[in-house]
Amino acid sequence: MRADDDRTVYLEDYRPTDFVLETVELIFELGENLTTVGSEMRFYRRGGADQSAPLVLDGDSLALSGLALDGKPLLPERYEQKHDKLIIHDLPTDEPFTLTVKTRIKPAENTQLLGLYRTNGIYSTQCEAEGFRRISYFYDRPDVLAVYTVTIIADKATSPLLLSNGNLVEQKELEDGRHMAKWHDPFPKPAYLFALVAGDLGMIEDKFTTMSRRDVTLRLFVEHGKEGRAGYAMNSLKRAMKWDEERFGREYDLDIFMIVAVSDFNMGAMENKGLNIFNDRLILADPETATDDDYGRIEAVVAHEYFHNWTGNRITCRDWFQLSLKEGLTVYREHEFSADQRSRSVIRVEEVKFLRAHQFPEDSGPLAHPVRPTQYLEIDNFYTTTVYEKGSEVSRMIATILGQDNFRKGLDLYFERHDGGAVTIEDYLKCFEDATGRDLSHFALWYHQAGTPEITASSEYDEKVGRLSLTLSQSTPSTPGQKEKKPLHIPLRTGFIGPNGDDMEPSSVSGGERRDDVLHLTKEHQTFVFEGLGARPAVSLNRDFSAPVKIEYDLPKEDLVRIAQHESDLVARWDAVNTLALNTLAAATRACQSGETIPVDPALTDTLTGFAEDDALEPAFKALALTLPSELDIGRRIGQDIDPDAIHLARNTVRDAVAKAGHKAFSALSVSPAEDAPFSADAESAGKRALRNIALSYLAAANGDATPAKEAYDRATNMTDRIAALRILAHQFTGAAETKAALEDYRERFAREPLVLDKWFTTQATIAGPDALERVQNLMSDTAFDIGNPNRVRALVGAFASSNPSGFNRPDGAAYSFFANFILTSDKRNPTLTARLMTAMRSFSALEKTRREKALIELERIASHDDLSRNLRDIIDRMLK
Ligand code: ARG
Ligand code: ZN
Repeated sequence: MRADDDRTVYLEDYRPTDFVLETVELIFELGENLTTVGSEMRFYRRGGADQSAPLVLDGDSLALSGLALDGKPLLPERYEQKHDKLIIHDLPTDEPFTLTVKTRIKPAENTQLLGLYRTNGIYSTQCEAEGFRRISYFYDRPDVLAVYTVTIIADKATSPLLLSNGNLVEQKELEDGRHMAKWHDPFPKPAYLFALVAGDLGMIEDKFTTMSRRDVTLRLFVEHGKEGRAGYAMNSLKRAMKWDEERFGREYDLDIFMIVAVSDFNMGAMENKGLNIFNDRLILADPETATDDDYGRIEAVVAHEYFHNWTGNRITCRDWFQLSLKEGLTVYREHEFSADQRSRSVIRVEEVKFLRAHQFPEDSGPLAHPVRPTQYLEIDNFYTTTVYEKGSEVSRMIATILGQDNFRKGLDLYFERHDGGAVTIEDYLKCFEDATGRDLSHFALWYHQAGTPEITASSEYDEKVGRLSLTLSQSTPSTPGQKEKKPLHIPLRTGFIGPNGDDMEPSSVSGGERRDDVLHLTKEHQTFVFEGLGARPAVSLNRDFSAPVKIEYDLPKEDLVRIAQHESDLVARWDAVNTLALNTLAAATRACQSGETIPVDPALTDTLTGFAEDDALEPAFKALALTLPSELDIGRRIGQDIDPDAIHLARNTVRDAVAKAGHKAFSALSVSPAEDAPFSADAESAGKRALRNIALSYLAAANGDATPAKEAYDRATNMTDRIAALRILAHQFTGAAETKAALEDYRERFAREPLVLDKWFTTQATIAGPDALERVQNLMSDTAFDIGNPNRVRALVGAFASSNPSGFNRPDGAAYSFFANFILTSDKRNPTLTARLMTAMRSFSALEKTRREKALIELERIASHDDLSRNLRDIIDRMLK
């Protein structure tokens, strides 16, 4: 039974609209206190639709100031406003008609940053998923595609720049110091891709010649004075455009492509047709203010939004349940781009780390949901790592199963068959089936079944005949709303590493399909038998992380070490070191809790020292291998009754042991390059910096001396080195005079750069231990902190709640209650941001009892308020279910 006031939306309720919208003409008269929006929509009744059905349009917090049908004002008895809907009765049955709607909105009061808002003198929009209904009454759903013409009128002095989607078709001066611009977008699009920007911004311009020799003007708009930091984003855009032509045959389709960077933005960025809008942290970069990670993120997100032009805009989603159709696929394309631009294995390891740190916990907690959900209360809450990153992994697995060439064939068919359409994940899968003849019906379960599959592996080697039997069993834990799970089709790349470290190739395989190095696990229990293996190999399962699964495999330690040292697949090498480290760290934590001396496995310290000394490995990979799992990683590995203080102590102890064992190697690695080497953001230079900085942090641990880090801070000529040194000081020498001095210097140096101060906030918010709360509270009164800016909130409060396990989970629960108060305040301003912040506590039930109980009290206190936003209500209720 569904209650009347239940706003839950169900996939099974999907119906096309009763009316077809062809064109829309919008006229904005911009005023920060009052903006009027005129909308003229051309509709006709859909053939076969109910001839008496009313037209039902979506709205949210709108003031209706005019309504007319074919130019004549509508009498009040012809329409009603109910539950935010505008319902119009007695509309023509055969003839097309024009509906004119006028609304009034207040952009300066829009603290939700959804719809049209004005901050720092800039008007901008965010319409995905359901923001357009905060601008005008509309069919605000992705399957309604219309051609837009947009006129913007504003004061010329304060808004010299007037932008919308498509091509500029007219621009003129008006009286009273106002001016107008008219834009036309020839490509039909859903409302979520609408965008408008007005204000006074600086610009850089470039051009791109497409594969069919068309010139495209590229414009990137940033705050005045920041133009010098926009070059890397522009360069990334051009590389992305080229790559999409070469790799997927996708060409850009308008004469102009624009990106605007704004400082108040809820998410990362948005792919509006021809006018992407970005959080400025994902655009602005120069060596003094951006780290190598920032450069990498900028390159990836600029490409991601650009790639949406085909996977998202030209082909969009039928309904929001299909969100992963565009997001999962676009993340996959983004990942492939990064892999081609940088080092494939390094990029892959970073993806695996991200997936395990964010998606796996989501998938095993109260917020778990399938890549394609079947119901939602608030769609905003489904822009998740499951829809994005697990969705990407699912497309990657399709490529693994079919092979890259066949994947490309399927995708070509998808573009050909569905261009201009609003489609489903079934439509997507069908293209791969039709293009290749491979049946993907079993595989499709990946979209529908939530939870991370767990594989248990065991192997037996028969020396006499050279036969290896590998038994794999799979199961997927229950998740909310899905108790029973079926076995999945899991492609597992598998290697056999011989005693001398070389790959071994079996002469035959039985028990299941094996193509190239991919084993196709399709049953609950399956035994693969490999013949012709002359010596017992170390079995390397899930090479390249070919499937997003957890593997329980009781591999002898010497096998793990063999894989760590010799696997030809670098991702598997990294994973083996990581497993060695996690085993040691988990044992150390247990010892800590029972008051025993903390053991540190020499196999780990030897292997890590070996990596540090191996000059054949690329620096970026070495840096990843030498980085110990984080405290959060260790907690997830332990899984329940987590004691963050014990983990903190255990990790520091293991880190110090590694530092001492590898002292010589780390000294050699920490040497700075020649003073005058010019900065380059390329992946290779970034890798060298990463390696030098990890070595520096080990040295600091081994020597217990803050001086070298302080010297590195003072000497730094780029942000990567500067923030790395600052982190060592703040995290390893918290109270030291050197630390105080460096923190003060940083605050002073970047006093006018809020974006750069975010790193300063995060560095301090993540200092471990019980003093963290007070530190965070003090930082909240720093003049640079601004509760209205999502980047500031995430950098300080978000980082504290999600990345400071010992500090946030103080045993007395004081940080929980601080956080709950913050959530309740923030929810009044910005529900999207707040609901996202709230998820920091989704794994509270894995904590040990005292903390778990204290956390629960605060969560229940939040839930007891009856005026929560729908976003927060949805998250908190699911967390407490
Ligand atoms: N489509 C945007 C992207 O590129 C993100 C939009 C997020 N919207 C939201 N309501 N959370 O991934
Ligand atoms: Zn996206």
